[in-house]
Amino acid sequence: MCGIVAYIGHREAYPVIIKGLKRLEYRGYDSAGVALLNGGLKVYKKKGKVEELEKLLADVQDLHSHIGIGHTRWATHGEPSDNNAHPHVSGDGKMAIIHNGIIENYAALRQELKNKGHVFQSDTDTEVLIHFIEEIKKQENCSLEEAVRLALNKVIGAFAIVVLSQEDERKLIVARRSSPMVIGVGDGEYFVASDAAPIIEYTNKVIFLNDDEYAVITDHSLDIRTLQDVPTTPYIEQLDIELEAIEKGGYPHFMLKEIFEQPRSIYDSMRGRLDASTGRLTLGGLIEYQNRLANADRIIMVACGTSWHAGLVAEYIFEELARIPVEVEYASEFRYRNPIIRENDIVIAISQSGETADTIAAVQIAKAKGALILGVCNVVGSTIARMTHAGAYTHAGPEIGVASTKAFTAQLTVLTMMALFTAHKKGTISEARFRQLLVGLETLPQKVEETLERVHEPIKKIAALFKDARNFLYLGRGCNFPVALEGALKLKEISYIHAEGYPAAEMKHGPIALIDNQMPVVFIALQDSSYEKIISNIQEVKARNGRVIAIVNEGDEVVKNMAEFVIEIPKTEEILSPILSVLPLQLLAYHIAVLRGCDVDQPRNLAKSVTVE
Ligand code: F6R
Repeated sequence: MCGIVAYIGHREAYPVIIKGLKRLEYRGYDSAGVALLNGGLKVYKKKGKVEELEKLLADVQDLHSHIGIGHTRWATHGEPSDNNAHPHVSGDGKMAIIHNGIIENYAALRQELKNKGHVFQSDTDTEVLIHFIEEIKKQENCSLEEAVRLALNKVIGAFAIVVLSQEDERKLIVARRSSPMVIGVGDGEYFVASDAAPIIEYTNKVIFLNDDEYAVITDHSLDIRTLQDVPTTPYIEQLDIELEAIEKGGYPHFMLKEIFEQPRSIYDSMRGRLDASTGRLTLGGLIEYQNRLANADRIIMVACGTSWHAGLVAEYIFEELARIPVEVEYASEFRYRNPIIRENDIVIAISQSGETADTIAAVQIAKAKGALILGVCNVVGSTIARMTHAGAYTHAGPEIGVASTKAFTAQLTVLTMMALFTAHKKGTISEARFRQLLVGLETLPQKVEETLERVHEPIKKIAALFKDARNFLYLGRGCNFPVALEGALKLKEISYIHAEGYPAAEMKHGPIALIDNQMPVVFIALQDSSYEKIISNIQEVKARNGRVIAIVNEGDEVVKNMAEFVIEIPKTEEILSPILSVLPLQLLAYHIAVLRGCDVDQPRNLAKSVTVE
């Protein structure tokens, strides 16, 4: 959610931090701030985006410092305002903190501290934490790191924090619990951030801090310990993310770039894993568990948002190919339901970021009940990827646009491979069909490319015609019903138009009442097992003067004669078709949002990874 950047070393800290904050802005963007040590602690913060902070600092003469911390906020406690922006400072003004997460017992701590004379400037839980650290430091007369450690042992909740003090001029204290934190290791310098994006242009050597660990960082030393004060040996990983992957590369928005990256991201998600010519399909991380998968009595998918939609598509695919019953759960509901998990159940957690708080909690619960947990994550080294017993990464590359696009199609690709892998092992699929589907998968990147090229211009025209619509309905059937949900979610989140997705046949049980000559209805009407049925549903909408936009297979004359607009996509296997049918819906949402003047990459009220419940 919020973004954290900190630096200590030989460079000027401010430019490193401001650039890093811009790279992290997708995580939260209601306010931003920095703290530097320059003849004492200097804190600057501003409501709004990072560029507002930059404007504020354009007039500050001297921002010179080789150590500093910075933050972009997504409000949890306290409205977005200058005061509530991070960094927050201690009562004596000597220490500053940036924080990602929520301190759940902050109200009690705040009262306790108020009773001791502390005065607060903001409504945030974070300010309470730095006052608490200050109080402990005073009471215990201890070092900064010891005060941080003692304080963190008493707080309940989630945190990734960095603390800076003018009394310890060459030291950063970093800690985490249930919120990600990455330390970049340079030559005589260290970078700290809530994900790797601000770090990779300086170094690809990183350490992922573990839960309940803290680090004391100086320019030339790094000491990592548990919050129980047991030293740990840091594991330095080499990241292979290229700088271009986190830049716009000539596109006006990350979202458009990421939509057009899909041929590549789907290909990368299959690379080295399948070869249709030899009938090979390997998912390295799952080999150890292939018997468990084949013998599973039930698969439970847990996820949120777009990842949940990927789970819904995968339900059709797993049941069809592997004949294993699948349940797809909102992680946020699953975690509070005392779910029943039996010995032969397998839980699959799907998450682009690998940091979604509800999905993490669902995994924890399932793990405590003894389930085997498999992860489908995009961010390497993320919390969920590390918590699960095994898994298969989607190799979509960094997804920066807040609306998920390429991560979704990569999830579908990987989940389909998992289903095929299981079905093959289990013997629920013939060799010929298995090979056929491998060919289907292998040809997808080419078809995705063709689809994007083909639909882009027609979609722009449709977007121009419907940009002022107040409502949209998306309808699909079978494995394209979740695509209808996904199309509606994309439109809602970036264009702020109300949209709903439904299984097409459910329409007559209620939503049909909404249809009039103002209502655009987007049908996914492919020539698959539901084709005849969906044609009847189109007739029902037409009979009520609804405006039908249909995603059809190329050459479909029947729907062309019925719908006001058709968008043609290539044919593929039915279970693979969501990977193609979602593409025009992503583009439709994108172009409508652009035409409405919306901030496509950073829609209001949203953040890329939702690290609070
Ligand atoms: C929608 C979107 C969100 C995420 C959801 C889960 O475009 O991006 O709905 O899909 O917050 O996030 P991850 O997949 O990171 O767990």
